[in-house]
Formats: sequence, structure tokens, C-alpha cells
Amino acid sequence: MSIYARSAAYYDAIQSARGKDYEREAALIHDAIETRKRSGGNALLDAGCGTGRHLEFLRTWYDCEGLDVDRAMLAIAAQRVPAAPLHCQDMIGFNLDRRFDALIALFGAVAYVPNVRLLEQTLETFYRHLKPGGVAIVEPWVQPEAWHDGMVDARFADEPDLKVARMSVSRRDGNVAILNYSFMVAARDGVRTFNEPHRRMLFTREQYRSAFAHARFAVEFVEGGPSGRGLFIGTR
Ligand SMILES: C[S@@+](CC[C@H](N)C(=O)[O-])C[C@H]1O[C@@H](n2cnc3c(N)ncnc32)[C@H](O)[C@@H]1O
Repeated sequence: MSIYARSAAYYDAIQSARGKDYEREAALIHDAIETRKRSGGNALLDAGCGTGRHLEFLRTWYDCEGLDVDRAMLAIAAQRVPAAPLHCQDMIGFNLDRRFDALIALFGAVAYVPNVRLLEQTLETFYRHLKPGGVAIVEPWVQPEAWHDGMVDARFADEPDLKVARMSVSRRDGNVAILNYSFMVAARDGVRTFNEPHRRMLFTREQYRSAFAHARFAVEFVEGGPSGRGLFIGTR
């Protein structure tokens, strides 16, 4: 499966242009882990690691590994964090035959999991991969009540040899947010346009919380977090 097959090469440019500060976010996640972790080690897995931008900073404190379902995203992560083992697997039911001290899934990556039952399975998978005393951190995506149909969105990246425009008008089908991104990219070899459909779940806070509880985590919700959408933190 590849969600970002066509746009992976422009993901970092778009996030940088919107001012996403991965270094600050990594420090915040590190603090959330260190104040709760009771397992002795420092092995960390980033599920839905994308292009590896959090791993780039988290490796200061942890032995990092990444996991993502998208090969194009992982190829960029491999260049950024060459020493980190990267796994092309689905976070819903992966099996790495080892346990970590921290397992994180940031920037709404879990919202690509297509229903509540599979969200529960994802949290069970996270639990199995944690040592006793280990910490799981999930940064949720947009809450259903915060979602507006027909919202017009545009992001622009303006670098010396790369210009990217990504536009969308949001639609909603029940608890599924449908974003058909239209890209226009200008690089030295010319200008091209393409579309890329994304479907993400508008899980409620209660659904996140009960998926953690279902997997036997002790769970808390912390307001704020990297993107202002809060953090669910589970301890095993
Ligand atoms: C919004 S991006 C976030 C990437 C990165 N965590 C960041 O903060 O920049 C979501 C990532 O989750 C990955 N993803 C989506 N569904 C997944 C799944 N079922 N298993 C593993 N990765 C998944 C996507 O390929 C993408 O790289």
C-alpha cells in the first residue's frame, strides 16, 4: 500500500513551509516519554514514521527504528537516518519479534487506520511490542466536531529549485474525511500536476481512549501536544 506514492518527494517541503518544527516536537515527545517510562532501556519505534523527521532528532536520546507502509516515504527516511532500521509494514498488525521502551505514532498517522475495530487491533499490536513499563504515544488527528465540509485549503512551498502548491476542498462521508489533494509542482525539469486521494478517519477522543483501554493500556489524554490536538499516552 502506498498512500503518498506521488507526493512523498514534496512532503518535507510542504511541512517545512507550514513551519512544522520537528526538533521542538521531538523534545516534547522525549519529555512525555521520560516522565512516564519505567522500563530500563531506550529502544524507540516510530510507527508511521514517514520521512523520518522526528527520528532525526529522537536518535539523540534513543535507539530508533521506524515503520511505515509507504515505500516512497521510507526511502526518504533511509537517507535521513541511515543507521535506523526501517520496516515497511502496516502498523495495524506488524510483527517485529522484539519489544521497545517507547512506541510513538505522530501527526495523525493512526487516522489512516480505516475503522474502530482496526484501531483497537493497532493498539493491541503496539502493546505487544512494548516492554512492561514501556510507553505508547499516539497523536490523534482532527476531532469530528472540528471538521468542516467544504473547507478550502492550500499549502505552498517556495524553495529555490522547487515550487509546490497542494490544494484541497474537504469533504466528509460519515466519519471519513476525504481529501483529494491536487498538486502542481515546478522543478528544473518542468511543471507537472497530479491528484492524490487521502481518506482519514475522524475518530472521537472516546474511540481513541477505549482502543487504548481495550489493549490493556493505562491511558491518559494530555492537551496541547505537537500540533495542538493533544496526545494519548498509554503505559504498559
Ligand atoms: C501524516 S504522515 C505523518 C508522518 C510522520 N509521522 C510525520 O510526523 O511527519 C502519515 C504517515 O503514516 C503512514 N501510514 C498510514 N497508514 C499506515 C499504516 N497502516 N501503517 C503504517 N504506516 C501508515 C503514511 O504512509 C505516512 O507516512
